[in-house]
Amino acid sequence: VKIIYVEADGTERAVDVAEGHSVMEGAVSNGVHGIVAECGGACSCATCHAYIDVSWLEKTGLAEGDEADMLEFAHEPKPTSRLICQIEVTSDLEGLRIEIPDEQA
Ligand code: FES
Repeated sequence: VKIIYVEADGTERAVDVAEGHSVMEGAVSNGVHGIVAECGGACSCATCHAYIDVSWLEKTGLAEGDEADMLEFAHEPKPTSRLICQIEVTSDLEGLRIEIPDEQA
């Protein structure tokens, strides 16, 4: 499944990610800059924060519950923010475009 990661400097990285993996794992295993994912996908670090292209929000959904709480600790969260370890890659997401914030620690 092709996922397009837009790094903070505008570099677009189109990466093939296997179904069942998270969008975060796809970034980390392909060396996409700016996704730290300190907690390894447990929804407890907010360093896998990214912005979902608005046209994709219907498919990915918005952050809810624990994820929404954790996003308050993310760098410059917006309404389109998600923690991408919480998004599972499925064939529905072919071509998904996400933007990575410019600072993430
Ligand atoms: Fe830590 Fe997603 S990897 S919240």
